[in-house]
Amino acid sequence: MDFKLTEEHLMIQQAARDFAQTELLPGVIERDETQTFPTEQIKKMGELGFLGMMVDPKYGGSGLDTISYVLAMEEISKIDASASVVMSVNNSLVCWGLQTFGTEEQKQKYLTRLATGEIIGAFCLSEPEAGSDATSQKTTAIDKGDHYLLNGTKNWITNGNTADVYLVIAQTDVEKKHKGINALIIEKGMPGFEIGAKEQKLGIRGSDTHSLMFTDVKVPKENRIGEDGFGFKFAMKTLSGGRIGIASQALGIASGAYELALKYSKERKAFGTEICNHQAIAFKLADMAVSIEAARHLCIKAAWDKDNHNNYDISGAMAKLYASQVAMDTTIEAVQIHGGNGYVKEYHVERLMRDAKITQIYEGTSEIQKIVISRSIISQ
Ligand code: CAA
Ligand code: FAD
Repeated sequence: MDFKLTEEHLMIQQAARDFAQTELLPGVIERDETQTFPTEQIKKMGELGFLGMMVDPKYGGSGLDTISYVLAMEEISKIDASASVVMSVNNSLVCWGLQTFGTEEQKQKYLTRLATGEIIGAFCLSEPEAGSDATSQKTTAIDKGDHYLLNGTKNWITNGNTADVYLVIAQTDVEKKHKGINALIIEKGMPGFEIGAKEQKLGIRGSDTHSLMFTDVKVPKENRIGEDGFGFKFAMKTLSGGRIGIASQALGIASGAYELALKYSKERKAFGTEICNHQAIAFKLADMAVSIEAARHLCIKAAWDKDNHNNYDISGAMAKLYASQVAMDTTIEAVQIHGGNGYVKEYHVERLMRDAKITQIYEGTSEIQKIVISRSIISQ
């Protein structure tokens, strides 16, 4: 057992840290306030290889391991969780899904451009009546011989307007339930595909969340991912890795808030001393440090499982469940440590607190992670 990061890991961590400080920090408050997508920053992230980190270099990716991805996600999320959700969806849902289950033609046509950030992807599973209950798909993809006819609505889709390529989950055969679901590649601009209004959100306000409407969209058969009926398994397998990305996002939000709170507590004076010298504040910092370290271990362990071809469904779910709770607890306490300044935008912690909440909701709510974990431990 070796807890030491490699030279390469440390380099990637530093590169992500530098990028976040120099490119993401300027303007992050304004982007949050005005719900502005970080277009230029995402372009640069693509150029630096952060959008296709685990993709084979022969398809334009960086060819790195999942641990590198966790380290980079933490650093980017410390500063801008809106940028890191774009990174997470593109890397672990879209690129990983296509690299692992796509045909060679699909990889050449889409993955090569997604991995470099030339285009951005979206992953479309949730619907108005199928969020946690993801097998209850109402969007239909009816088999018409050489194509599918796609009809329905997807909700809350990250990169909804920014994406060019959408992986859409839809029901082909209702009788077969989840075994009759397919995953299809949809391109922006296909006739019958419309993008709904942008959601007005509590947090990750720089990210671009929309509903999508499909009316008789003709999708060529070659755009199906995997065998007929593989769509639900595709979604579940892809989300198992996605949850490691969101766990790392939560970790980054927590460690970003902790670093700010620690610094502030050493500068701010009350009752003749720096507030970190008051035990009530010092103990909060201790609790934060311990839980962040534990969350980091869970994230790295899940990534290590993935890199070593172990099952990571459960370690990923545990990492997400725990790290998202740590993000919530830590950001609330970081605001508290900042006192009144914590409640105003320029100190960043109120944004981190608002951003933390989503990590308990998307890519499977905390209750869903508990279902996944408890089913596994009970069945052993
Ligand atoms: N890998 C492979 N297959 C899996 C799997 C996994 N991790 N998890 C489940 N399956 C398979 C099961 O084996 C089963 O197939 P078989 O019948 O062939 O064995 C099938 O899927 C159905 O599984 P269940 O019987 O367990 O289904 P269920 O309805 O009881 O529960 C669930 C499934 C785990 C609750 C699932 O619906 C779920 O994960 N819900 C949450 C949805 C979610 O995470 N949405 C995220 C949307 S993307 C997003 O949010 C992105 C973003 O914000 C940035
Ligand atoms: P519901 O399923 O209606 O759940 C409501 C509450 O009931 C939750 O607390 C839930 O945990 C609980 N609950 C439900 N079932 C159970 C149960 N069996 N046991 C115990 N408790 C239960 N989806 C995508 O497909 N792609 C995206 O890119 C995407 N991005 C998103 C971005 C944002 C900003 C948001 C807000 C959502 C996004 N989503 C995306 C959707 C997200 O994955 C869903 O919101 C999430 O899975 C929960 O589904 P729901 O909102 O329908 O809640």
